[in-house]
Amino acid sequence: MADDSGLTETGGVAVPGPVPPSPGALAAQDARRVHPRPHTGSAPVIRTRRLTKRYGDLIAVDRLDLEVHRGEIFGLLGPNGAGKTTTILMLLGLSEPSDGDVSVVGLDPTRNPLGVKRRVGYLPDNAGFYGSMTGRQNLRYTARLNRLRGESAEAQIDDVLAQVGLTDRADTRVDTYSRGMRQRLGIADALVKDPDVLILDEPTIAIDPIGVAEMLELMRQLVRERGMALLLASHLLDQVQSVCDRVGIFSAGRLIALGTVEELANRYGDRQASVTVGVEAGPDVDGPRIAEAFAALPEIAAVERDGAVPGELAWDLRVGQGVAEAQARRAILRVVLEQGLLLTRLTRAAPSLEQVYRRAVAQRSGLASTPSPAQPVDRGRRPSPRKGGRGGSSSSRDSAGRGTSGRRRRT
Ligand SMILES: Nc1ncnc2c1ncn2[C@@H]1O[C@H](COP(=O)(O)OP(=O)(O)O)[C@@H](O)[C@H]1O
Ligand SMILES: [Mg+2]
Repeated sequence: MADDSGLTETGGVAVPGPVPPSPGALAAQDARRVHPRPHTGSAPVIRTRRLTKRYGDLIAVDRLDLEVHRGEIFGLLGPNGAGKTTTILMLLGLSEPSDGDVSVVGLDPTRNPLGVKRRVGYLPDNAGFYGSMTGRQNLRYTARLNRLRGESAEAQIDDVLAQVGLTDRADTRVDTYSRGMRQRLGIADALVKDPDVLILDEPTIAIDPIGVAEMLELMRQLVRERGMALLLASHLLDQVQSVCDRVGIFSAGRLIALGTVEELANRYGDRQASVTVGVEAGPDVDGPRIAEAFAALPEIAAVERDGAVPGELAWDLRVGQGVAEAQARRAILRVVLEQGLLLTRLTRAAPSLEQVYRRAVAQRSGLASTPSPAQPVDRGRRPSPRKGGRGGSSSSRDSAGRGTSGRRRRT
């Protein structure tokens, strides 16, 4: 099915539709190297139709249509107050929709919240642990709540601790953990029940850049190794855009854009590609002359100096309108060779979701009363059978009320 996002269905893989190749699509090739795993084409594990939540006059979530598939990382992105957490709580059956339909792992969380809880791991934005207990003891507690006991529980705990890289610290008290370690313990906690879907609410908030990088790497690994679906909500676009296979941009309760970062860049971003080129500096290397040579190329529209690394001269070159980015790179290389320069780098600039986000919000505010342009890709498949059933639990930490997990924190 084609829709206005320009996506079509091709063997379960979302591909750009009849839109001609664009700079963004070329940049997408780079991105695909980071995300070699395409959507699996299975039925969505999360599906909402016109899902709505009202609090009095406030519409926190407004007719949300969303699909998340196994094997993909979906980013629900938007500023504070956009409705991300409210959406998640409805997916988990922790908040009742005012209107619309929601299905998670084929179940209706409103009618069967415990069935959903059994198969969905959830890291709330305010995960709480017992600080006086070790990481392992906290996980045992969760395992028991999920009716996992004995050797199989211990094996599962060892497994998830290893997966999140906490094996070495498993037996020290949680109140000695860094924030990043607590976040990782939160993911381990969500993984103890071997879920099909993992939902992470603001998983990178309040952790340092190295912690964020580790967290994102962990997410990629989880989806790769466990084949689960991962829904990630965040207001930190720049932090999470690199890890998401698809993103939905959420603003004031509405999903205003949906697609891969590249697709959104094509729709809202700067359509002109740019290329960064760097050469080794040296006594005979004349920066201004090189810049002039780049500027003289018919393929290049603009030349700007790039933040220099010591010993290097670098420029950002904007590719001319209607010029294929590869053609521009070829021309740039010719200049480098002709001038006898030593190339240090030649890279395509990735589209920025930040810019996409701002434009999407701006366009949205100009179209305040029109329907959402975001249309999920309908893959037209039936749900796949549930993987080998494990005796599930009927309880989790949020229902048991330990810490603050699962409860809303409104600030
Ligand atoms: N229990 C509640 N009662 C009243 N308003 C709420 C409640 N929960 C959320 N809201 C409001 O709904 C909107 C969306 O909130 P939320 O889903 O937490 O956004 P996000 O997670 O994107 O920051 C906000 O305006 C928030 O104040
Ligand atoms: Mg939130």
